[in-house]
Amino acid sequence: MGAAIARRQGGGKKLVLADFNPGALSALAASLTDEGFDVHAHVVDVSSRPSVDKLVAYTAGLGRVVNVAHTAGLSPVQASAEAVLAVDLVGVGNVLDAFGEVIEEGGAGVVISSMAGAMAGDLMPSEMAKALRSTPTAELLDLPFWGRPPFDDAGHAYSIAKRANHLQVQAASLTWGARGARVNSISPGVTATPMGQAELLSERGRGMRAMVDASGTGRVGTPSDIAEAAAFLLSPSSSFITGTDLLVDGGVVAAFRSGTIDR
Ligand SMILES: NC(=O)c1ccc[n+]([C@@H]2O[C@H](COP(=O)([O-])OP(=O)(O)OC[C@H]3O[C@@H](n4cnc5c(N)ncnc54)[C@H](O)[C@@H]3O)[C@@H](O)[C@H]2O)c1
Repeated sequence: MGAAIARRQGGGKKLVLADFNPGALSALAASLTDEGFDVHAHVVDVSSRPSVDKLVAYTAGLGRVVNVAHTAGLSPVQASAEAVLAVDLVGVGNVLDAFGEVIEEGGAGVVISSMAGAMAGDLMPSEMAKALRSTPTAELLDLPFWGRPPFDDAGHAYSIAKRANHLQVQAASLTWGARGARVNSISPGVTATPMGQAELLSERGRGMRAMVDASGTGRVGTPSDIAEAAAFLLSPSSSFITGTDLLVDGGVVAAFRSGTIDR
């Protein structure tokens, strides 16, 4: 998704690409450079605030920061609950906090959450939502519910982290808004990226295919479906939209909420 958004947004700008995986990062940087983009690659671990601070300093050193797209993530088939929380929960907080200090007036950001977060939000107690919305990023992993069943399971941790992203974006809309900038999230459904393919091939894959088959579109998403939604949220066409989540899931959550798909 990061590559698709970079291609959709990066023309005519200085394009900073950042990722944890140096090999994947340099391969994408080389390919986008060949395509004519002005690419600047930087290795980052979003779960580390000092690492994100270095990325922000590097980016701000190149010019005004007008758009930020946060697409880094780990899925439950790739990692433990602990690692999922470090990247998908704390990583989002670090990026929102650190880029919120340099985002340009009129700028915009987008965070990639998940339809899993929308489904978790339907069931989440309000006290838990309040804690996730208001706890400072550095203290998020101290909240009392982590590490105990069911949140010691990577799938549960992923869903809660992705719901937390909606709440983190709500809170960040105020700090970003104080600088004249906006920030929103996108919740993709099953999307044909390396992560999406791994999910479909996992033991949860059959259930995921059944959900897709029963949805309004009946298909998986493409990275460009997500890039088009991000283009809208990063453009002046969405100047009255901030602190909200856009579901780009082919209709899976609607089918859940209408009872067509059984939980
Ligand atoms: N593909 C899907 O079906 C799907 C569905 C819903 C939500 N999402 C979410 O979309 C986002 C993008 O996923 P994708 O499908 O493009 O996956 P992907 O695996 O292709 O890309 C994720 C990238 O994040 C990077 N990353 C992992 N840990 C990192 C860290 N600590 N610091 C910096 N970078 C790190 C990886 O190296 C990888 O390049 C993720 O947040 C994912 O949870 C994906």
